[in-house]
Amino acid sequence: MKVLGIESSCDETAAAVVVDGRLVLSNAIFSQIAIHAQYGGVVPEVASRQHTLSIIPILRRALDDAGVGLAEIDAVAVTRGPGLVGSLLVGLNVAKGVAFQRGLPLIGVNHLEGHIYANWLIEQGPGPPPPQFPLICLVVSGAHSDLVLMTEHEQYQLLGRSLDDAAGEAFDKVSRLLGLGYPGGPAIQRVAASTEATPFHLPRAWLRGTYDFSFSGLKTAVLHMVQKELPEPRQDAQTEGAPERIAAEIAAAFQESVVDVLATKTVAAAKRHRAKEILLAGGVAANKPLRERIIQTSPIPVHVPRPIYCTDNAAMIASAGYFKLSEGRRSGWDLDVTTTLKLV
Ligand code: KG4
Ligand code: ZN
Repeated sequence: MKVLGIESSCDETAAAVVVDGRLVLSNAIFSQIAIHAQYGGVVPEVASRQHTLSIIPILRRALDDAGVGLAEIDAVAVTRGPGLVGSLLVGLNVAKGVAFQRGLPLIGVNHLEGHIYANWLIEQGPGPPPPQFPLICLVVSGAHSDLVLMTEHEQYQLLGRSLDDAAGEAFDKVSRLLGLGYPGGPAIQRVAASTEATPFHLPRAWLRGTYDFSFSGLKTAVLHMVQKELPEPRQDAQTEGAPERIAAEIAAAFQESVVDVLATKTVAAAKRHRAKEILLAGGVAANKPLRERIIQTSPIPVHVPRPIYCTDNAAMIASAGYFKLSEGRRSGWDLDVTTTLKLV
């Protein structure tokens, strides 16, 4: 079964064709990062206008790359939330138009479920076996940090979540404090990798006895460290290069703190719930030190999607849509977007 996936919840316009929820035939993405970077973050109105310009070319590219026509598509899956309302509406209406015109089933997908299903994607058959239940999934994106126990397809139990900033949001805000630009995650990872070992140590909000996270105190600690350690750039030659080095060392200390908490809680939850596997999902799962730390400390197999499937894409939406269709679900023509949709 070939599912056409469509994703436009934030600043990526994406379409993809996936066979039987796993094999990616195409994964077309137009990223608006360069457009929003000049403002230091996503500007919702600019994002929705750009989606309207990009969606049809991206849809065509997804079909062309897959080497299929619309006549060979069996169903259309689309992100219905959470996300920016104007952005979500573009993808939803295009998906409805295609499905209605071709008489195909339409299925609305929770973007966060999509991130989880990125772990089912393969690029060549037959590929490794699919993830085994029960499993623990850490979903860490720009707006969410959820730790969930998944016992079956569509069966989620929330173990913990961020009480304030999402992990990706913390990366983005700290990056701005350090003058490293948007998006913050890749920028922080890059400069942190340029330091051997950081002399700085930042606090960890353990919130003991829970699987919840908190990153806003860490962000404030970074702010105080920046004010103390990074005074206004001086002109004399001796300090040349020093502000960049200190910024990189603070970035490394911040990343260590986030990785420490996320990895420790994820592995503890997996042991406690006797999970068969750990899955990582969402944009922050692209973070190399986080992936490495969880793989090193987990006693059970860890699935991590390729970085291109961690950040927003439509292949993951097509995959989640396929498994929903397999359970007999489909959406009506009155399907609407829900900007604040939660996983559980
Ligand atoms: O899942 P995603 O693409 O969009 C949302 O659904 O939010 O996640 C975007 C977030 C941004 O906050 C970005 O800074 C973060 O993922 N991110 C990373 C990395 N790549 C993207 N964070 C840490 N390390 C990375 N390599
Ligand atoms: Zn996302």
